[in-house]
Amino acid sequence: MCGIVGYIGYRNSQEILLEGLKKLEYRGYDSAGVAIYTAEGLKIHKSQGRLAVLESQLDEVPLVGSVGIGHTRWATHGRPSDVNSHPHSDESNKFTVVHNGIIENYAALKMELIERGHKFSSDTDTEIIAHLIADLYDGDIVKAVQAAVGRMRGAYALGVLTAYEPDKLVAVRNASPLVIGIGEGENFIGSDIPAILEYTRNVYILGDQEMAILTRDGVELLTIEGNFISREILHVDWDLVTAEKAGYPHFMLKEIYEQPKAYRDTMNSRLSEKRDRVILPEITMSDEEIRSIRNIQIVACGTAYHAGLVGKMVIERMLRLPVETDVASEYRYRDPLVSRRTLTIVVSQSGETADTLAAMREAKSKGAHVLAITNVVGSTVAREADDVLVTWAGPEIAVASTKAYTSQLIAFYLLGLYMAQVRGSVKQEEIEQTIGAMQSLPEQVESILEQAESIQSYAEQIAVHNNLFFIGRGPDYLVAQEGSLKLKEISYIHSEAYAAGELKHGTLALIEDNVPVIALVTQPALAEKTVSNIKEVKARGGNVLGITCEDSAELQSEFDHTLFIPRTLDMLMPALSVIPLQLISYYASLARGNDVDKPRNLAKSVTVE
Ligand code: F6R
Repeated sequence: MCGIVGYIGYRNSQEILLEGLKKLEYRGYDSAGVAIYTAEGLKIHKSQGRLAVLESQLDEVPLVGSVGIGHTRWATHGRPSDVNSHPHSDESNKFTVVHNGIIENYAALKMELIERGHKFSSDTDTEIIAHLIADLYDGDIVKAVQAAVGRMRGAYALGVLTAYEPDKLVAVRNASPLVIGIGEGENFIGSDIPAILEYTRNVYILGDQEMAILTRDGVELLTIEGNFISREILHVDWDLVTAEKAGYPHFMLKEIYEQPKAYRDTMNSRLSEKRDRVILPEITMSDEEIRSIRNIQIVACGTAYHAGLVGKMVIERMLRLPVETDVASEYRYRDPLVSRRTLTIVVSQSGETADTLAAMREAKSKGAHVLAITNVVGSTVAREADDVLVTWAGPEIAVASTKAYTSQLIAFYLLGLYMAQVRGSVKQEEIEQTIGAMQSLPEQVESILEQAESIQSYAEQIAVHNNLFFIGRGPDYLVAQEGSLKLKEISYIHSEAYAAGELKHGTLALIEDNVPVIALVTQPALAEKTVSNIKEVKARGGNVLGITCEDSAELQSEFDHTLFIPRTLDMLMPALSVIPLQLISYYASLARGNDVDKPRNLAKSVTVE
């Protein structure tokens, strides 16, 4: 996830681009840059670090011109650095682009362009776009962009300038958002509305596979095949704060709804074209090293630890190797048994959590190979680990983690499959079946999100309670733990997650009339036993919400309230069953009047031990 802006008009574009980028900094803050037509031609200035760094450099040496594009980066391909920052250009500096998205087939395109004599200077997928457009240019930038996107697979929102046609700004999108702002004698592009709201409230929302040609005097919309489109102008009357959250009242809700995209982004570019294998070129461990692993340790904190619990289940099932998951703050104190054949997987959204870093350093010092699953490419965890698997969830702003957790699950599924391919521990047929099921997850999540209204009404009922229990068996118990943490941290309702079978060994004493119990029953082989535990709860007056699959209608009579979710493979169920739990926490917090995005006593990144 990155932010892009563009301007064509008569004013000083540098100022407008920087103001726009400030509104987009929440989309990425690894680096920033602008490209502006000046009297000396197309000039690029870009720099690693927050936008303020670029701003102060441009204060010293301004770029003067009335057409430009800008970018704020959240690194995906290539670590944060000056050279990997956008805008990118071809070696002639005549074509320059800003990009938000991921080009899945960039490696193949890059190879082809290198063979044709192109020289690359960055590690990014974006740089190939500038070279590809340059390669295909034959006097018409619109045609060259159309031809280039015809060769590209993946997600993109692009702003393109060429020095050969200085009175034109071309924008195109597929799967990444892009809006076009319409002014008087000036026009704008932006990743989202806040970037341009200060200058115009009249916008076109560009659809997938659509492009816009902007001049000072007008905007033309067309499909990437070149057919002109007529579209009504949308008049935006949001205030800026609402606009930054894309119309959602809170970042948490926005991030919950971004999960289908986060699943696709984390997964799609890591699947082979035929969708029959997982490819992880970023993993440097050789096949021999992967085959020689004897044990795996997963360390993380909080929600990332809960993802690690699912990771343990996934890897043990696929690799039949012993896996332990530890809370990072405890890992060091048990003098963990580590050898050169130990793989330690650290999981951290921020990549800066002090406890996770300390655990990682402990594992490394004892000789383990460390693989990091993180959402932040240039983070300390990413820099210090031997291997990095990035979750492409984009920046997570709300303190309560949602899309980072589910992207971590996807990363574990990918990693499990990848290592199983190398070790030959899972049949090809099962690999294909799992990949097929994973590809349906985004749509299945969307269908759960459609039930938000009934989830809200349940959440409002439990919001008056002070105690709540989550129960489940197997994968359902793992998800229950995450559901319980989420509820506690933002609604401040005390809750506990229990393995359903463990309840009768003590905790059942706490169940009395009307105590809410959320029971996850998604695993056919375990359902009967969990239902017995639900009966024990109900016999003591507990009020049970059952979360089960659409094909288990017969279970409905066991619950006081029922929520049906789609079915997927047992092992993948956590990627679906956690979604209603996130929504329950969100709406319970809302009903209690809490500050959902910034819960009391908590911080987004915990950099103290
Ligand atoms: C809970 C939450 C925290 C984090 C934990 C680790 O919603 O967000 O429990 O998961 O502090 O943070 P990272 O993943 O940044 O290491």
